Amino acid sequence: MICIIVIFCVTLQQNRSMMENPFYITGIIPEPYFCDREKETLWMVRTLDNKAHILLFSPRRMGKTQLIRHVFEHPAIKNSYYTFYTDIYPTTSLHELVMFLSKEIYSVLLSKGKAVIDKFLAGIHSLAGSFGYDPLTGFPTFDVKLGDIHTPELTLEEIFRYLEQADKPCIFAIDEFQQISQYPEKNVEATLRAFIQKMNNCLFIYAGSNRHILENMFNSATKPFYNSAEQLFLNSIPKNVYTSFAITQFISQGRKISPEAAIYAYDLFEGHTYYVHNLLHNAFAYLDPDKLIEEADINKTLDDMLEDKGRTFASVMNQLNYQQKETLIAIAKEKEASGVTSVAFVKKHALRSPSSVQYAISTLLDKQLLTYQDKGRTKIYSVSDRFFGMWICKTY
Ligand SMILES: Nc1ncnc2c1ncn2[C@@H]1O[C@H](COP(=O)(O)OP(=O)(O)OP(=O)(O)O)[C@@H](O)[C@H]1O
Ligand SMILES: [Mg+2]
Repeated sequence: MICIIVIFCVTLQQNRSMMENPFYITGIIPEPYFCDREKETLWMVRTLDNKAHILLFSPRRMGKTQLIRHVFEHPAIKNSYYTFYTDIYPTTSLHELVMFLSKEIYSVLLSKGKAVIDKFLAGIHSLAGSFGYDPLTGFPTFDVKLGDIHTPELTLEEIFRYLEQADKPCIFAIDEFQQISQYPEKNVEATLRAFIQKMNNCLFIYAGSNRHILENMFNSATKPFYNSAEQLFLNSIPKNVYTSFAITQFISQGRKISPEAAIYAYDLFEGHTYYVHNLLHNAFAYLDPDKLIEEADINKTLDDMLEDKGRTFASVMNQLNYQQKETLIAIAKEKEASGVTSVAFVKKHALRSPSSVQYAISTLLDKQLLTYQDKGRTKIYSVSDRFFGMWICKTY
């Protein structure tokens, strides 16, 4: 009898540990775990079908990359196009852009067989030194290094020529596209735009989170990319849609969360996708599976998360000087801070002076610890990482 009970308990435990966490926080999200974005997906598929390029922008961590991946999995896209995706956030020059684009094409074509790869490599003469053949399999290899790219504009032309001649139409998503405006080479935007304008076989999705730079690139009449893409601003998923999704995900794994707790989790971050999703991921992972999750459990999960992250946050704080620290703390406490260089703001938070705040803010923006939105003529600042903002408020 005891033996049967032990086996039952062990099996129950195993089933519990085999439960899939439906709140994905890394990688590509499989269909049943992807939440909403139905209108946006449909709009993007239609826009691409109508042969228009897309500019997709949103605050950081709202879900741009996941949306692009989702659109690429849509049958109307998957069956008719070659799709490419590269995140150029780490790039700081045209050389690196060329490297990222060519590596992505090679990695996508890898699964399409030797003939397809051969055709690609045959078109990129300027990088011939980076090609080879695997001695065992005879498969073509491509190992481009930055130093191999001597004529980035020529390689770019060859890459685009290849895409133009591909046997299917192509869609190339370039994430964090605003990076190109920071490259030291002259006229990068004009060069890229000139190539893209001539293409009939390839559509582009330009994505990014720096609204200010992207709007400047696409909305000012003097800029090369002016008016060259249909624009989509991605907001948070509506509250009722996200919370019913969350409740259903818990139920589908034999678990329960109260509607109030789901709404509470959403409201803590105004529905900012990554943060709410991360919180529910942890609630699912660490709370007692037999318990109905309520608001207090969400608070407990959040406290644990902030404590876990505390060491990293503390070391970020340690790298700031006194003025930067006190400015960051003041903005975290306001949550959304405007008029930060006004005497009133300086007084309220006992800061040194408007000019010291201004100086600190510019460093904090460079370090990406702060972000801002333009509202009319005023800038509204907030801490970029919402968890960090919460941790600051609790700690200081
Ligand atoms: N539609 C969705 N369904 C479920 N989870 C989502 C969805 N969109 C985003 N997420 C969650 O938010 C996280 C961040 O999404 P994503 O990486 O797409 O944001 P992003 O806007 O590209 O961020 P960044 O600005 O940092 O590049 C995902 O890893 C996932 O946990
Ligand atoms: Mg992204």
